[in-house]
This record gives sequence, structure tokens and C-alpha cells, in this order.
Amino acid sequence: MNRRIAIAEPDLSPLEEGYALEAIRSTWISSTGAYLTRFEQEFAAACGCGHSLAVSNGTTAIHLALAALNVGPGDEVIVPSMTYIATANAVRYCGAEPVFVDVEPSTWCLDPARVEEAITSRTKGIIAVHLLGHPADMDPLLEIAAIHGLWVVEDAAEATFATYKGRQVGGLGRIGTFSFFGNKVLTCGEGGAITFQDPTLATRLRMLRGQGMDPRQRYYFPIVGFNYRLTNLAAAILCGQMERRADILRRRREIVARYEARLRGVPGIALRTDAEWAVTSPWMFAATIEARAGVDRDTVARRLTDDGIETRPLFVPIHTLPPYRVEHARRGTELPVTHGLGRDGIMLPTHTLLTDADVDEVCDRLVAAVGAGRAAQGRLRVA
Ligand SMILES: Cc1ncc(COP(=O)(O)O)c(C=O)c1O
Repeated sequence: MNRRIAIAEPDLSPLEEGYALEAIRSTWISSTGAYLTRFEQEFAAACGCGHSLAVSNGTTAIHLALAALNVGPGDEVIVPSMTYIATANAVRYCGAEPVFVDVEPSTWCLDPARVEEAITSRTKGIIAVHLLGHPADMDPLLEIAAIHGLWVVEDAAEATFATYKGRQVGGLGRIGTFSFFGNKVLTCGEGGAITFQDPTLATRLRMLRGQGMDPRQRYYFPIVGFNYRLTNLAAAILCGQMERRADILRRRREIVARYEARLRGVPGIALRTDAEWAVTSPWMFAATIEARAGVDRDTVARRLTDDGIETRPLFVPIHTLPPYRVEHARRGTELPVTHGLGRDGIMLPTHTLLTDADVDEVCDRLVAAVGAGRAAQGRLRVA
């Protein structure tokens, strides 16, 4: 194979180019402008939320949400360990401690059955991550939160436009957060958004996003805030992406469906089971390499790299990483599902620029790598 198949590529068209050029020519390239207002309104409406704020990325979106909810030193926040590092880091930025809970074996999202045992007198809330485009099971999480007086923040960085029981993610918990990094379903390079229904949160979130400035008195700063604003230039690109979102989603869904059709049921390869109440967002397609494959995930990934196919391991469980492992060991909680996914999970190329032939090529090579492992295992058994 001559061509490298990339794991992710942004889908940018002349529409985004035109809007970006317009923003440049207008000189409104910083954090005020018509594209920002338009994007915030359109994104809020598309997510079925009363409000949306554009922010600089998905990490600052989570930090801002937690800061608005007054998370601080001594507090604990329940998070899955099977997520991107940003979810846990944002808790630490507040001086608080993430408490890691296992995920469900079917959906790979936070397991509501394991949440209650992690709650202590210090717990302030739960971050439900909609992992790899699949919504977390929000109803039981919201019920547990209500019983214990906690809030739920949705980290929807990977799940733009997913729905849970017919409702858009981002408006189900207290605050929703999104990422528009280059590999996401919608992108502007680096960017993010916050969504929320409660209008009383709006002023505080806006102030925190803009250095703490008083909305009634310019350049007066009653609180310590951050500079987490998005630029009008980036919002111009997002407005183009919003206009094209039906096409982007359609092609990504076709790719996910093709992977499903080709890989489900292949011995040695396991796939996530989508809940019947979920409409997933077609972010990154992932599989796990089972023990019976006779070959481990890293060997499979190396073989695909040799074939010109870029993959990504599923997330290293955060509770095993240096900044978090000592604190987690003190708690002594076992997270077996997370461990298995971290060891066996592999993300496959998922973006709109892939042809059907590319997807078939990835599947052929993956099935061959797993098949070779099974054959080698068979030979060992015979010998
Ligand atoms: C689950 C999750 N949360 C948060 C983030 C952080 O987003 P960003 O990279 O835009 O800061 C990401 C993504 O990249 C993510 O996958």
C-alpha cells in the first residue's frame, strides 16, 4: 500500500474557508464578533439547550464548568478512569481530587452501579463522560446525584449530537462540555463549548471565561477568572461546520456502519454494545482484541502501522498514571473493566475523507492480523 490511512482528518470545505476569510477581512479575529454569537445560538439550539458558550477547547470547558460549580480544594469529583486525561486534569486544576469509578462492559461508560460506593462526605459531583460517542446512562446517574445532593456535568467532547432516550446530550446534566479539536466530529482546530439549561449559570460562566470581568463595569474584576474565550476566526470555521453537519454526520455514520458490518462476530475481535436508548455520535470507531485472538493489541497496532494504517490505543486508565496512581492506590478500588479496555482497546481510522475501500482495507488488515495470531496459537497448541 502506498497511501497512509490516517486515524483522523478534519473535513474542511470552501464554506469554512470563505467564512474564515470573511472574519479576517472584517478584522474581528479575537473574542468578539458575529460568528461567535451565531455559533453559540446555533449550537445551543442544535443541542436542545437554552444556552451555549464558546470556549478555547474541551479541557477549558470542563475546568470552567467545575469552577462555576465552586469545586475547590478538599472536594472530590467522581469520574470514569476510562476517558481522556483532560477529564481528570480539570478536577485537579480546581485543587480537588478525581475519584475513579469503573465503566460498564457493554457501553464503556461510567457504571451507575459502581458510583454510590465511591461517594463520600467530600463528593461534590459526577462527571459523566459520553465515551467514544456513546451516551452515559444518565437517568440512574441523575437519580443517584439527586439522592446525594450532587450535580452531574456531562463531558460530551466525543459525543457531539448523540442522544440519550431521544434527548440531546449536553442538556441532561447541570452543564455539558464539548471539544472541537481537529479529530472531533465538528472542528475548528482547537475549540470547545459549554451548554446549560439554567440561566442563572450564564453570568458566572461568562465572567469566569473572560478574566472575571464584571458584565456591568468594563475592566473591573470582582473575581479571579480565566482567558478561556474562543476567537471569532475559529467560530467562523465552526459556523461552516454547523451548516455542513448533516453531511459530516451521514458520512461518518456510514463508515461506522461499515466497520460494524465487517467486524462484528469476527473471532478474536469484540465491539461495544450500543444501548437501545442511545443514538451514538460517530466519533472514533473502536474494537478490543480478545485473548483468544492469540495476539495482543500492541502487536496488532504495529502490524497495521506497517501496512500504512494509523491506529490509536484506547485510553490508558487514568488511575494508573503517575499524577493519579498514588491517590487511587490509597482508595484501593479495583476497576477491572477499565483495565481490560486499556489493555485491549484499539481505535480505528474514522473520518469523512475515508473511502469505502479504505475502510475495507483497515478491516482486511485487522482481521488478517488477528487471524495470524489465532493460527499461531493453534500451532502452539498442536505442538
Ligand atoms: C472525553 C474528552 N474530554 C475532554 C477532552 C478535551 O478536549 P480538548 O482536546 O479540546 O481540550 C477530550 C479530547 O480531546 C476528550 O476526548
